[in-house]
Amino acid sequence: MKLSRRDLLKAGVFAGAATALPLQRFVSSADSLATRMPASKLPRPFSSTFRRPSVITPSISTATTDYYDITMRAAQVEILPGYQTVAYTYNGQVPGPTIRVDQGRQVVVRQANQLPAMHDRLGYEPWTSVHLHGSASLPQFDGYASDITRPGEFKDYQYPNAQPARTLWYHDHGVHHTAQNAYQGLAAMYLMSDPLERSLGLPSGEFDVPLMISDAMFHSDGQFLFSLDDESGMWGDVMLVNGVPWPTMDVKPRKYRFRVLNCSISRSLNWRLSNGAPFHVIATDGGLTAAPIQVTNIRHGGAERYEVVIDFAKYKPGTLIQLLNNSPKNNRDDTNTNRIMQFRVVSGSFPTADDNLPSVLNPNNPVMALQESQAVNRRRFRFERKNSQWTINGKTWKDVEDSGYRYTVAQPLKDSVEVWTLENSSGGWFHPVHIHLVDFKILDRNGRPPHPWERGPKDVAYVGENETVRVLVRFEGRGKYMMHCHNLVHEDHDMMAQFEVVDPSMPGDDPMGTPARPLDQMGPLGQ
Ligand code: C2O
Ligand code: CU
Ligand code: CU
Repeated sequence: MKLSRRDLLKAGVFAGAATALPLQRFVSSADSLATRMPASKLPRPFSSTFRRPSVITPSISTATTDYYDITMRAAQVEILPGYQTVAYTYNGQVPGPTIRVDQGRQVVVRQANQLPAMHDRLGYEPWTSVHLHGSASLPQFDGYASDITRPGEFKDYQYPNAQPARTLWYHDHGVHHTAQNAYQGLAAMYLMSDPLERSLGLPSGEFDVPLMISDAMFHSDGQFLFSLDDESGMWGDVMLVNGVPWPTMDVKPRKYRFRVLNCSISRSLNWRLSNGAPFHVIATDGGLTAAPIQVTNIRHGGAERYEVVIDFAKYKPGTLIQLLNNSPKNNRDDTNTNRIMQFRVVSGSFPTADDNLPSVLNPNNPVMALQESQAVNRRRFRFERKNSQWTINGKTWKDVEDSGYRYTVAQPLKDSVEVWTLENSSGGWFHPVHIHLVDFKILDRNGRPPHPWERGPKDVAYVGENETVRVLVRFEGRGKYMMHCHNLVHEDHDMMAQFEVVDPSMPGDDPMGTPARPLDQMGPLGQ
């Protein structure tokens, strides 16, 4: 780890301030670009074969609950053809294993941190905290950033799965190292179904396909290169889908359901099909839209999920269609960051029972039924760069830490409805803003209706340059939860706050009240 004078200044080495705090909290553990793999050695776009993340089976299932065992560990994986990359993985895989669950079944995931005590190059301790993004989990199982599991410890996370069907994902959230940990592989899908969704006859099985899109860059020896562009973000030159660089996927001439997650650390996308063909949005972060929404592109910030149906029926075998990216402004682009993946239409028989796009999906989503007139409170949050820090209303997660985790930016009453205004008054960057625990409805952006693709239940709102986005939320649950920018570099440096849902009849659980335990205290799962 090399520290610049600026890092050292920030760490208080020269100023003599704050020296009681571990140095690690302040430094941007990052690589230099000097040893980046030259573009000529990178794979050609569309030359790799598409791959799906594997699905994990429970270690134990009882009448009510599925129990999973996951080990976080360093493993060698092949991302660039012919190179072994050391990744930080869930169960040795990048992306991690997909968990599938039906609404109403409980899930317990035992997450054991067997990562190295120190990252050999970046020089940080890879403590973790696992967040199931999209789940209304109890505070102590929500991946609260400061509720860390250190190498040599484990934690059992409980998930209620009581919400409507949706595409969730689990990823690392360890305080100050979320970006490095997630970048090196700690991210995976979690797909929840429910009876309504199953009744729709949407494309299923091999026609229901997760697309986890991210970017990365590599040292010339094939190892991940983690470079920070002055804390604006981490911008790779290789586009990955499910951990494969610019893959080509064979598709049959029929409908597919794609669950598209942008799990980039910082990059936002504006993706479209190369032939300009329209496709249909069927779900957003919090589940199904009322009806399919026809679009020709999607502006897609970090952590947002858009489920789309693409119909390949009208294409002859051999047709090639690319998924392209019109990079939104304030990303850092490279030669091939405008391409994501390719579809190749192939002949062959296929089932038709699920070759459907119903005209009605979920017209009764409770969040989408909320009306602004129900709001009992309005709050405004400014996401801004201040004194070389990423802040929310001028504060950072350090203010939360310094308060002994008491300081909150809002105390909505349980079950109350509020309007939150998310404001970015800069032209120099964008912020995908995520509010934990809740789903919300986007009311407007700069006074205008939301984009067609974001007219469904959401938990991340793209707050672009000089944009003010108003969201309508009902606060179910109780206790303290985070809200932050999902550019994970902004989040780590320290654009994160917490709010507390207050239930006058009962205090919320402490997000740090169920700490991780040493691995040698591990008992059998499910007891
Ligand atoms: Cu996807 Cu607080 O995170
Ligand atoms: Cu979340
Ligand atoms: Cu941001």
